[in-house]
Amino acid sequence: MTDTIEKLRGELLTAVSDTNDLATLEEVRVAALGKKGRITALMKELGAMTPDERKAAGQRLNVLKDEVAAALDTRKVMFEQAALNARLASESMDVSLPVRPEAKGSIHPISQTIAEIAAIFGEMGFELAEGPDIEDDFHNFTALNFPPGHPAREMHDTFFLPPDGDGNRYLLRTHTSPVQIRTMMSQKPPIRVIIPGRTYRCDYDMTHTPMFHQVELLVIDTESSMAHLRGCLQEFVRTFFGIDDLTTRFRPSFFPFTEPSAEMDIGCSRQGGELKLGNHGDWLEILGCGMVHPNVIKACGLDPDVYQGFAAGMGIERIAMLKYGIPDLRTFFESDLRWLRHYGFAALDVPSVTGGLAR
Ligand code: DAH
Repeated sequence: MTDTIEKLRGELLTAVSDTNDLATLEEVRVAALGKKGRITALMKELGAMTPDERKAAGQRLNVLKDEVAAALDTRKVMFEQAALNARLASESMDVSLPVRPEAKGSIHPISQTIAEIAAIFGEMGFELAEGPDIEDDFHNFTALNFPPGHPAREMHDTFFLPPDGDGNRYLLRTHTSPVQIRTMMSQKPPIRVIIPGRTYRCDYDMTHTPMFHQVELLVIDTESSMAHLRGCLQEFVRTFFGIDDLTTRFRPSFFPFTEPSAEMDIGCSRQGGELKLGNHGDWLEILGCGMVHPNVIKACGLDPDVYQGFAAGMGIERIAMLKYGIPDLRTFFESDLRWLRHYGFAALDVPSVTGGLAR
């Protein structure tokens, strides 16, 4: 038996190392270790031996079996690695190749503006948050301190969906503020987020489209103040518009979800019918903001005696129009290729505060 095993060992290991692919390797495995394989056949002979012979031969056969199995495994891994390397080589792509001259794609000014906003607030330590376009009454109004029947609900020109069987009134969110609620209910303070997204109102003219974009700002901790709000927003408009000394002005206003509420203006001039940003004595309204109302904090299950913070909301189309000199809001959504070619941005031009925003 010893000689047979030794001979078989030599044959099988040679057979393994002679294989050139996974299929033949599998044949070798079956011929050695399969049900009718040669090692298996020898195992079956053990039954006819005396106990002593069986013990000695059995041990040797087991060693042989392990050795052949290990050789098969090593070779298999080698073939698989080679196959993977070949595939990686054949599917590789040279990302340093120049853009093909006929490439037509460009980044829409809305996407570009959102990326710029994210880059600026990202530098200040804000994170990105998102919420659904289809909202319920609670998140869009009630939790934001709009009392039932309050005229502000109607002012929003809401698109309502037909009520479902349980009487729930779903709607297309009229602002990004409901995501303030979702964020406060799912994250623990300190919270520092910006929330860009689509919003909807039933309105259509030069300055209104039924779908538009807003970005919301929310900070919740134990001591954020109106002064921090002003600092953040001023830093934002200066970086975004690329005017280092751009002045801001805060006017008292009203929103149900903030107290006190304010509107922020930036300096501009309208001389000769042309709007120009900068410190020229005139003012342009740009966003709404304020300290988050204690009722809103309470509605999210947080203690308003412990937590406070500020929020702001602004229209993305509006600031994109101002920055890039786009005169008509409706053109954003007409998918006119000539417009996109003119106002679009190069796909690889990712904005960053240090690397540069588009100017
Ligand atoms: N949600 C408001 C709107 O669409 C905008 C707004 C104003 C958002 C003040 C805020 C804020 O977070 O503090 O008209």
